Amino acid sequence: MPIPTEPRRVVSAVRRVSSPSAHRETHPNVTDILTVARASGGSGADILSLVNTFLGIAVDLEGRRMVLANGVGGVSGPAIRPQALYTGPSGCSEVKVPVMGMGGIMNASDALEFLLVGARAVQVGTANFVDPAASVKILDGIAAYFQSRGIPSVAHFVGSLKESRQSTIFST
Ligand SMILES: Cc1cc2nc3c(=O)[nH]c(=O)nc-3n(C[C@H](O)[C@H](O)[C@H](O)COP(=O)(O)O)c2cc1C
Repeated sequence: MPIPTEPRRVVSAVRRVSSPSAHRETHPNVTDILTVARASGGSGADILSLVNTFLGIAVDLEGRRMVLANGVGGVSGPAIRPQALYTGPSGCSEVKVPVMGMGGIMNASDALEFLLVGARAVQVGTANFVDPAASVKILDGIAAYFQSRGIPSVAHFVGSLKESRQSTIFST
């Protein structure tokens, strides 16, 4: 697949005016997220955030209408976590730029899963609407996990998944 020019142009433009870091949040609703991630990384992004919301709709059976005023909306939260794990840090592990994993992280275990498959950091979105203290609890939970297992730092844990069988749906 040819490298798309749009991510490269956007990231390059941001890079020229931003200091010290350019951060790109990548949408998963593309045919080949790895190609988009490569284009962003190759044009100066310091960090890639993966993933943004997945497109979805809701319909009102009685009214036979779309529920959302805009028709289509973004699906976030626990439902997207397996896809986010797959397309995010796991799917983009070969991209040189550090990946910040996100999508459905609700607790420390979820966050640790993203670190395990290669995310260098995580973000928490929807969980904050459920519990405003979620991020602090997640941070404490990660620290407790490392402490109980004698893991000295995040760096010792990131990407330490023992076996990875990456599907071939991502182009190379
Ligand atoms: C209410 C809401 C607003 C969001 N606004 C933005 C936004 O302005 N820009 C953006 O890149 N992503 C936005 N996102 C996507 C989140 O950054 C995140 O990628 C997504 O929600 C998946 O993570 P989560 O399951 O932890 O929420 C938004 C998500 C939600 C739920």
